[in-house]
Amino acid sequence: MSADSLFQSVEKDFLLTREQLKPIVDGFNSECKIGLKTPSKGLATMIPSFVTKMPQGNETGTFLSLDLGGTNLRIAAVELKGNGKTAVHELKRRPTVELKTGEGSVFFDWIADATHELITSEAKHLFTEDQVSGKETLALGVCWSFPVDQTAVDRGTILRMGKGFTLKNVEGHDLADMFHEAFARKNLNVKVTAILNDTVGTLVAHAYTNPACRIGLIFATGINAAYPEKLPLITKLDESIRSKYPENTEMLINTEIDIFGSEAYLPLTKYDLALDASHNQPKFQLYEKMLSGAYMGELVRLIAMDFIKAGALFEGHVPEGFGKPWSFPTMYMSTLESDETPDRKESREALSAFNFVNAPTLNDIAILTRICRIVAARSASLAAVSIISLVEQQKLLENDRDDIVVGINGSTYHFYPYMDRRVRRALDEWYGKEISSKITLENATEGGSVGGALIAMLCK
Ligand code: GLC
Repeated sequence: MSADSLFQSVEKDFLLTREQLKPIVDGFNSECKIGLKTPSKGLATMIPSFVTKMPQGNETGTFLSLDLGGTNLRIAAVELKGNGKTAVHELKRRPTVELKTGEGSVFFDWIADATHELITSEAKHLFTEDQVSGKETLALGVCWSFPVDQTAVDRGTILRMGKGFTLKNVEGHDLADMFHEAFARKNLNVKVTAILNDTVGTLVAHAYTNPACRIGLIFATGINAAYPEKLPLITKLDESIRSKYPENTEMLINTEIDIFGSEAYLPLTKYDLALDASHNQPKFQLYEKMLSGAYMGELVRLIAMDFIKAGALFEGHVPEGFGKPWSFPTMYMSTLESDETPDRKESREALSAFNFVNAPTLNDIAILTRICRIVAARSASLAAVSIISLVEQQKLLENDRDDIVVGINGSTYHFYPYMDRRVRRALDEWYGKEISSKITLENATEGGSVGGALIAMLCK
């Protein structure tokens, strides 16, 4: 088959017009409503964060925060300087595969060691002598970028983690307990005062710089979003909890929108199904698998394999290494899409990770790049669905607001070429330019660390 006819069918499958996005937006809207009333047991969505205060931007002080995502652990001492300004002194560590897949207590000990290092060296000057020596307790905000069944602002049951983490003996345990046990083993006087999802952290951190922020979105290895919900609508929370707050309170909700969607209405292509089948957690996070940074490269590889088999790419030869699932990281897509060098030198360098029978031609690279564009454009449209459904859930357009601010953090959004513009375009197509212009997408790069410190402070 020719490349042209293959492109026709792949483009048809991946293009999401307004009509095709509609069932997803509708499905997400109804999942929001169902999630708000279904008590969170096990893998849940619409998780109440118990955070009911937002920062004003004038708060000051130094607070500890810890941010664990799919790739990095960041432990930070965050100085809140007032006027929306912060200084972050952080220590960054990358867990090895052994740590990510080993015994839970070993992993938490590793975190405790890093925390000790931060307090006693890197950030020592920011703390009092009693805090450094452990005489005085330090408050820690933990930003946990994995599903948690939150039971209080500082407590939450660890659920299935994802992102390559398969720790033993952690699922079902309280996250704060796991930390406190490790801190005790390492003689550290640190207390977890807040547990938050990275989206809640992003929303709070961005609200520190712009209090108009109504959605915190992460578009990185995974995708997820948080927003403030009216307390009376969060009926999954027991009346005894709800009645503790004034009626007009809003509580931040970690939507876990990554888990939204089902085969019933997600436009899954054969490539999405193949990717899911080869994943170590099949049928989990189907929506996220269609669009986020952890998966885009593999989708491109699977499509490219069809082109190769049809003789339309690399002269029909599978380059050595390329046949292996997950061998084509999303980072290579970034290189291909941003490469403007005359002979596509940068792309060739990325592709040199594979062994070719004959060096790829310019046409091969153009084909592969076009596949990247198709996958990335769909990612942007699907990411826009998260924004659209939370704008609708909050009815933000109904009361004629024209300052709907979305704070966005995440490597895929920030570093993937043109991703920000593509998400913007998807919103423009959905709403029309005029209405879409009421929604401002802002960079919220301070995310987890600052958010963790702010919530540790707000909940002290
Ligand atoms: C994954 C996690 C979620 C997190 C998101 C963004 O979807 O399940 O908790 O917020 O990635 O990092």
